Amino acid sequence: MITAASRVTMEEITALAKRRGFIFQSSEIYGGIGGFFDYGPLGTVLKRNVKDAWWREMVELRDDVVAFDASIIMHPSTWIASGHAAAFHDAMVDCKNCKHRFRADHLPSLERCPDCGMRDTLTQPRNFNLMMQTAIGPMEDSASRAYLRPETAQGIFVNFKNVYQSARMKPPFGIAQIGKSFRNEITPGNFTFRVREFEQAELEYFVPDDGEDLACYDEWVNARKKWYADYGVREERLRFYELAAHERPHYAKAGTDVEYLFPWGWGELESIAHRGTYDLDAHMKLSGKDLTFFDEPSKSRYTPILIESSAGMDRTALTMLVDAYDEETTVDADTGKETKRIVLHFHPKIAPVQAGVFPLARNKSELVERAHHIERALRPHLRTAYDEGNVGQLYRRQDEIGTPYCVMVDYESLEDGSVTVRDRDSMRQQRVAVEALRAYLAERL
Ligand code: GAP
Repeated sequence: MITAASRVTMEEITALAKRRGFIFQSSEIYGGIGGFFDYGPLGTVLKRNVKDAWWREMVELRDDVVAFDASIIMHPSTWIASGHAAAFHDAMVDCKNCKHRFRADHLPSLERCPDCGMRDTLTQPRNFNLMMQTAIGPMEDSASRAYLRPETAQGIFVNFKNVYQSARMKPPFGIAQIGKSFRNEITPGNFTFRVREFEQAELEYFVPDDGEDLACYDEWVNARKKWYADYGVREERLRFYELAAHERPHYAKAGTDVEYLFPWGWGELESIAHRGTYDLDAHMKLSGKDLTFFDEPSKSRYTPILIESSAGMDRTALTMLVDAYDEETTVDADTGKETKRIVLHFHPKIAPVQAGVFPLARNKSELVERAHHIERALRPHLRTAYDEGNVGQLYRRQDEIGTPYCVMVDYESLEDGSVTVRDRDSMRQQRVAVEALRAYLAERL
């Protein structure tokens, strides 16, 4: 019987992520590098599952969205047109005493350092460009300067015409891509929430200017609400915050931030925005190229209106980890003994391992062979893992990585061809015939 569940801290999430191989600090043996992380064996699968779930719903299950994959480095003019070159920076101040760095607009005054309390130790605000620079070719001069993209969206905008012509698409239609973005964040933090290298999943949906644009925006907000609900993110920890006019860029007619209640407070996972014709107009102006849509039936040209959904995949994967985490106290019905267990209640489609298969005893070759055989037979159909060891430890390990089902092969299995299947959430065990096992699991996953 489960009696209590508590809210996790970020320290607990970070410790579990390292212990079980979800996420590691990048370049840890050299002391790490701020704002960069590596995904371990389970974290890689977790993030891939999150991306696949997004891709499936946003691209594969629709006939009005096509796929795209732009290069990370684009022509530097891209960032002039997008506004990133001019406006994508924060004014920062450094404390000469404690060496801490702050965003100038986050400080109540520039007189006293909020961390060490010293007076007159803060530098004047200086601008930091958030775009990461690199050089193309062997010579590093201003002519070779380029930037790692700070968002994937611009690759879609500059290719709008290439895509609609080659894919024979007509607004309303969307172009989707998942890819890496880079921002030289001044204050990376909260584990993988604010990092300098991250993945975005962006949908740019182009609609005609026929008065239906706001209704289309609402449809996308609802589609995204459904997506989070379908993958089990707790409703009470998710909010869709509608931006007021003064919180939106001047060209945006509407905007919603999708936010999750992390242990430190609300944090943005995604922004959904009605961006008007701003992006295509800006690229047409600077490039001098036509990015309008030619409507064959009416023989007229127009610039489509853009509805954007831009989600961070690292933040969504972190949300899945935090949201799934529970530390439960369980009481044995017979002995009354209390035990604690850490369990990740991942949605089965998100769980890195869907079924663990073990022999009851690792020194009994018939059990080991039978367990291997069952695991191999399930492998083409679901994400499986074979493991062996002490039964309590096996279950503890699988609970901590969020495996929905564990299959135990015991002596009875050798006689009657059945196995014990344990449900992660209820911890209930059921006897299932091996021939029926695949269907039993498929029905529940
Ligand atoms: N094209 C629109 C755009 O990029 P954004 O609100 O700047 O909009 C979209 O970014 C999403 O990308 C954010 O909601 C967040 O999930 C993710 N993101 C942005 N900066 C990030 C960072 N430094 N670390 C991790 N994710 C980030």
